[in-house]
Amino acid sequence: MKVLNVGGGAREHSIVEALKKSGAEIYTVMKNKNPGIADASVEHVLMDECETENVAEWAISKGVELAIIGPEGPLGEGIVDLLESKGIPCVGPSKAAAQIEIDKEYARDLMKRHNIPGYVEHRAFDNLEDIKQFLEQFGRDVVVKPIGLTGGKGVKIMGEQLQNYDDVLAYCGEILESKIGGQSRLIIEERCIGEEFTLQAFCDGKTLAPMPAVQDHKRAYEGDEGPNTGGMGSYSESDWLLPFLTEEEYKQAVDIMKQTIEAMAEEGTPYKGVLYGQFMITAEGLKLIEYNARFGDPESMNVLPTLQDDFLTICRQIVDGNLSAAISFDRKATVCKYVVPVGYGVESLVGEKIHLDEGAIRNTGAELFYASVNEEGGQIYTTSSRSLGIVGVANTLTEAESISEEALRHISGKAFMRHDIGKPESIQRKIARMEEIRGSRSA
Ligand code: AMP
Ligand code: GLY
Repeated sequence: MKVLNVGGGAREHSIVEALKKSGAEIYTVMKNKNPGIADASVEHVLMDECETENVAEWAISKGVELAIIGPEGPLGEGIVDLLESKGIPCVGPSKAAAQIEIDKEYARDLMKRHNIPGYVEHRAFDNLEDIKQFLEQFGRDVVVKPIGLTGGKGVKIMGEQLQNYDDVLAYCGEILESKIGGQSRLIIEERCIGEEFTLQAFCDGKTLAPMPAVQDHKRAYEGDEGPNTGGMGSYSESDWLLPFLTEEEYKQAVDIMKQTIEAMAEEGTPYKGVLYGQFMITAEGLKLIEYNARFGDPESMNVLPTLQDDFLTICRQIVDGNLSAAISFDRKATVCKYVVPVGYGVESLVGEKIHLDEGAIRNTGAELFYASVNEEGGQIYTTSSRSLGIVGVANTLTEAESISEEALRHISGKAFMRHDIGKPESIQRKIARMEEIRGSRSA
């Protein structure tokens, strides 16, 4: 079957590897030349993925029969509606259903309207006067979010980037004036405190098939310090849970996502594709922090290498609307560490050569996924985004972490990575933090 892959990051490389295992013939549209994806594709074209008319024209000329959309940008541009109008079914939501990620106000309003658990109190604003009045009454710490897409850099939190209400007002002013996220509108919500985790699920509009939970690391530096990034690495456990996540909480998260897709179907915007829920376990229980309308990056690299069922079959079930609710994964732990350009999170050094010994990396047993690099003349160069994802897969977290570290020894250049991800000390810190938060729940 001819399948179109849209996107050129490590998430898409992991998608393409899973499709290849299923025997798909892959055609890729990406803006940078990702050598892993280029190798796995029958053909690729370098093109802006958000220029949906061009993407559709190319896909039709290649006779593709199914498409899978990696990044949120083209989803927000309505690529699924366009491709489907041309007879190419898509693993990905329509523009209306992609609002769950693209429009943070829609996502929160939907949860409120349907009384879905995990809702965080929020309000949308388009002027500073109303914000001032709201804050005077609210009195608690808040988070400020532009409504639209900001590449993970638009959210600012009191106690972190914002120290007090003056800072909050200044940032709100900036969003409203510069239309950060594309609109002169923002939401303010209650600041939650706790450990975060990701739950990804396949959806066909009616049925939700969840995957193992994953924990990403958003901060650039070890010990969860420094600027926020798209994610520096992630891990998952063989039992689908995380060391600080109970089975009960996992089930609650699945239930919140189920209620969300039911609500969307009821309102006439059924959700199909991969739904990504970002959750936080707080003293007040489980909270939904945000939805994404796609696989996570890095989180796709934790789940796809351990997928037992045939990926292409799942994709076809998603578009045909007959998805099985139970998808199987190997009972393995995974640790993914991202290699990123020096300066990533602030200002990346672009165009730097990264040396890697692909054979030696694979000999360690680790999986290698190319991210937003450019290949020229057989050499790999950094872009402003993340460069390589290295994933250890093993029976235990400790073994998976060791494999990822062994593989990282075969990479050099102006790049860095967080060695602490998945290490026992780092996991212990998360468990201890969660115990403290749970303790304060009963206190
Ligand atoms: P988002 O773009 O909505 O995922 O936000 C980015 C990050 O900001 C999340 O992963 C959280 O770490 C943090 N965040 C978002 N909303 C909240 C909230 N209501 N309380 C605390 N942290 C939040
Ligand atoms: N890991 C964060 C994201 O994919 O948005």
